Amino acid sequence: MLNFDFSILQCPITKESLNFLARENVSEIIQKFDTSFLKFDNINEGFVNESNTYFYPVFDDILLLLPVYALYIGKGEDSRGKMVFDKERVFNYYNEISYNTKNSLKIYEDSAKWVDFREVSSEYISNAFTKARRYLNPSGKYMLDIASGPIGLQEYVDLSENYEVRICADISVNALIQAKYNYSHREGIYICADITNIPLKENVCDAVLCQHTLYHIPKNEQKTAVEEMYRVAKPDTRIVIIYNWFYYGWFMNLSLFPIQLYRVARHLAGKVYVRLVNSKPRLYFFIHSRAWFKRSFEFSNSIGFYSWRSTNKYFMSIYIHKWLGGKRILNCLRRSEDKHPEFWGRFGDYPAIVIKK
Ligand SMILES: C[S@@+](CC[C@H](N)C(=O)[O-])C[C@H]1O[C@@H](n2cnc3c(N)ncnc32)[C@H](O)[C@@H]1O
Repeated sequence: MLNFDFSILQCPITKESLNFLARENVSEIIQKFDTSFLKFDNINEGFVNESNTYFYPVFDDILLLLPVYALYIGKGEDSRGKMVFDKERVFNYYNEISYNTKNSLKIYEDSAKWVDFREVSSEYISNAFTKARRYLNPSGKYMLDIASGPIGLQEYVDLSENYEVRICADISVNALIQAKYNYSHREGIYICADITNIPLKENVCDAVLCQHTLYHIPKNEQKTAVEEMYRVAKPDTRIVIIYNWFYYGWFMNLSLFPIQLYRVARHLAGKVYVRLVNSKPRLYFFIHSRAWFKRSFEFSNSIGFYSWRSTNKYFMSIYIHKWLGGKRILNCLRRSEDKHPEFWGRFGDYPAIVIKK
């Protein structure tokens, strides 16, 4: 049962306010359409925009505010565009992925590709997941976790503990089903949405967090995504984006030289491969430089770069082992990241990009 202030929502297509539709009105609309493409049954509630042209279904308390899920109920022309190829492949990848359970939380089955779950690294990894808290306002009403995924790590879940409501938004409904499970002890709003077109009104959120997603957004849409996060944040709040510098990160380039070269080659080959071969969906990845962030926005002067984690999984697999004093090495690194966050935010692998609004 949905129970929140619907006036924070906006139609992602017409930008109008959305009105709630209860069960009796929804069945009237639904029966006129073939809704098998939605792949969800139990559509009992929904929203319509003010001019009554788009109907957005609600499935299991998850608001499907993604244009591809809207039903066109207007009389004129349907003004929806198509998803671009690179966005669609990320959409398909995250709709097809499975989930495992770890420490009673649902996580992506591919998490171990990016996160080192060994005991030797656990303290270091878990510390990184708490870092967004240092930059976000300490408390408030709405924390928007945009592209939340399943929020599958306790430290990540806890980032919103001082907020009244966590808005989990993601392009994948399956991810939101898992997020609802992982966050069932607290108040959440679950919205299937595109980060480049956030279906919230401006100045609504007391905090905006976007972890490990901006680099999966098509190159030419990353600017819009950042502007959208800025738009929905309240004045005097912060937007925190956890990004990856990949080949711009000199610490990894120097310590993993041949591996970084191989990764860059594989990355470029992958871009050609997905367009030539109709393979199963593969993840898209594009990295903008620090200089790009510094010149691309009206609010570029309010952007800071701090360390989230200076190393990646490849580094840890090679250098960090219990028998090689791995814990001690990671403790040193962690202390250095804490002492020199701007240095490591520039040269390390994962920066926390902090925007003050
Ligand atoms: C690598 S996961 C990160 C999940 C989570 N933030 C975390 O740190 O574990 C990327 C997430 O971004 C979502 N995503 C990808 N493209 C998106 C888009 N255009 N709009 C909203 N979410 C998107 C995916 O569905 C996926 O859940």
